[in-house]
Amino acid sequence: QVTGEDNPYVHMLSKIECIHFSGYEIDTWYTAPYPEEYSSKSVLHICEHCLKYFNSGYILNRHSLKCPYSSQPPGNEIYRDTSGRVAVFEVDGRKNTIYCQNLCLLAKLFLNSKTLYYDVEPFMFYVLMELDSLNNYHFVGYFSKEKLNTTKYNLSCILTLPIYQRKGYGNFLIEFSYLLTRREYEMGTPEKPLSDLGLLSYRNYWKISVARALKSIVSKMPSGSGLLKISIQDLCSYTGMIANDVVCGLEELDGLVRNPDTGRYGIHVNMPLLDTVIAKWNKKRYVKIIPELLLWKSVI
Ligand code: ACO
Ligand code: ZN
Repeated sequence: QVTGEDNPYVHMLSKIECIHFSGYEIDTWYTAPYPEEYSSKSVLHICEHCLKYFNSGYILNRHSLKCPYSSQPPGNEIYRDTSGRVAVFEVDGRKNTIYCQNLCLLAKLFLNSKTLYYDVEPFMFYVLMELDSLNNYHFVGYFSKEKLNTTKYNLSCILTLPIYQRKGYGNFLIEFSYLLTRREYEMGTPEKPLSDLGLLSYRNYWKISVARALKSIVSKMPSGSGLLKISIQDLCSYTGMIANDVVCGLEELDGLVRNPDTGRYGIHVNMPLLDTVIAKWNKKRYVKIIPELLLWKSVI
């Protein structure tokens, strides 16, 4: 990933301890290279619509009256689920550069690793919004994805704002990234290194995704067909995940057995465990992705 360290705006130390965002006061986790005049104070006021930052609530209120994105974020709405009350916007780093830079700066407040802030043009940003009862949009989180991908990375950076965490939105974004990958007839994996929270979320997703795939593949096989023939490659095609991540998911599902004679590994289907894992996840009633609601074609 590209860092903003060569950028003249980047200063040494940020004092920002919390942000005011959409009526919430959110403690920051890490520093972010906001321009010096904004990072010398402990509170930063951020517009929830355009993600522009201000030194005072008064200036933010004045801005709100003329914010260009007060009714709708930039980019194209590519997914809208009116019963799940969520929408996803695809925002091009080249066309909406300032918005995407502000998005990356905001994300950096919750990310320890080096990340891009200014060089956003090579990326697409997928922004998740909650819809309230009046159909107003509320920023929940996002992930970025490189446009021209020569590697297998299908996600560069992911964030759920702390006020929305542990509600299944991170999982929604991860699943969404794989849905795009499958629509491209590809397989993908997130850019490394993953943060601790990133790893926890991905491990959980890989487990559930492989569990669903195994169950679905097995249920389509004719009953009494004897030995099941499922390969890692089948699971890759089904999930859009690369082989390493499929293996990671299988490990969590008691899904790998070693043949003591040959030393080779085979796939083991522990159906009661798959059922338990899937049922436990479904019980949480997190918002689900409905693939048919995605209106999207790859730009490449
Ligand atoms: N502790 C334990 N398990 C967790 C945690 C946690 N803090 N967060 C997620 N998980 C696991 C759990 O199994 C969780 O299910 P559960 O809450 O029902 O138990 C599952 O992942 C799904 O969690 P979500 O609610 O879908 O995830 P969330 O919306 O909280 O977002 C994310 C996860 C995006 C990683 C968030 O923690 C975040 O923004 N962190 C800061 C930024 C960051 O670290 N991003 C990842 C960097 S790596 C990269 O970008 C490639
Ligand atoms: Zn604004």
